[in-house]
Amino acid sequence: MKKVILTGDRPTGRLHIGHYVGSLKRRVQLQNSGEFDHIYIMIADAQALTDNFENPEKVRSNILEVALDYLACGLDPQRVTIFVQSAVPELTEITFYYMNLVTLSRLQRNPTVKAEIQMRGFETSIPVGFLNYPISQAADITAFKATTVPVGEDQLPMIEQTREIVRKFNSIYGEVLTEPDALLPSNSACQRLPGTDGKAKMSKSLGNCIYLADEAEEVRKKVMSMYTDPDHIRVSDPGKLEGNTVFTYLDAFCQEEHFARYLPEYENLAALKAHYQAGGLGDVKVKKFLNRVLEDELEPIRARRLEYAGRIGEVYEMLKKGSETARREAADTLECMKAAMKINYFEDAEFLKDWNARE
Ligand code: TRP
Repeated sequence: MKKVILTGDRPTGRLHIGHYVGSLKRRVQLQNSGEFDHIYIMIADAQALTDNFENPEKVRSNILEVALDYLACGLDPQRVTIFVQSAVPELTEITFYYMNLVTLSRLQRNPTVKAEIQMRGFETSIPVGFLNYPISQAADITAFKATTVPVGEDQLPMIEQTREIVRKFNSIYGEVLTEPDALLPSNSACQRLPGTDGKAKMSKSLGNCIYLADEAEEVRKKVMSMYTDPDHIRVSDPGKLEGNTVFTYLDAFCQEEHFARYLPEYENLAALKAHYQAGGLGDVKVKKFLNRVLEDELEPIRARRLEYAGRIGEVYEMLKKGSETARREAADTLECMKAAMKINYFEDAEFLKDWNARE
């Protein structure tokens, strides 16, 4: 069986370092591993509209931003297909047939959807399109016969829902669809990087994100004002690591080589943590170190982003071509699905024959 990746992001803002450690970095590694027959990366504009339908300008203005973020991280359009969801209308058609295979109560039980409904205050007036987005996401994944879906842990309920739809479809209509597996970040700090204010998640509306496109000076300011241990007042005080954002970020980004380069008096992160907990290590020193560690990773990303932004016409063409490639693949899957469902009347030579053979 072919090994295929599909994953994507909603274009509701520029991508931040939570997206980076949670998924983007891994995608680039998977691309470079050469282990996959095809990799599709989708800009999920139609899904973004399910809770931004009144604000299409927001979605529109972030299509190229997200494309630039992808390229900046090292995704290579020669090796991966980057495309826009709404440019593949077959996904909508597939969604329509999947809607028969899922109950309303199953959608309402989806933990991610449940949390989002609460967060957005939809209460009893939930737009149908919003409630339906897990089904649409199942269409995204299966249209490309994806075997592997690299995502953050908040997306696990979506993959589970997809697997159920696949099993149901295959049991009714025959083995057509591929059951995908989720691929989570291996490091737990990477699975849910908190905001710079220590809140559970980076989110544009909370203003607690470090963006891939941020200038070095912006990143430095954000790092220096990051939430740490509020009881760590004097340098000599013992410090706590739990909930200490600076250390969570170090867990996500720091490697042993960073100590040799920037903080040779410590052997590794464990030694730095031990000193912090014992007392005698100030936040400023740790923050300066974190800033250097982040810059090591962000500097080349920033430079590549600027370079691609200077050739935006090519980026636009790349998206258009990627969307055409994606469309061909989705159309192929849809054709197989319709044949299995016996609704491919005009491609089916048996259709009229069956009619004429009737008694
Ligand atoms: N729901 C994903 C998110 O909010 C975006 C997405 C849409 C996606 N379709 C997908 C992710 C298919 C993986 C596979 O980030």
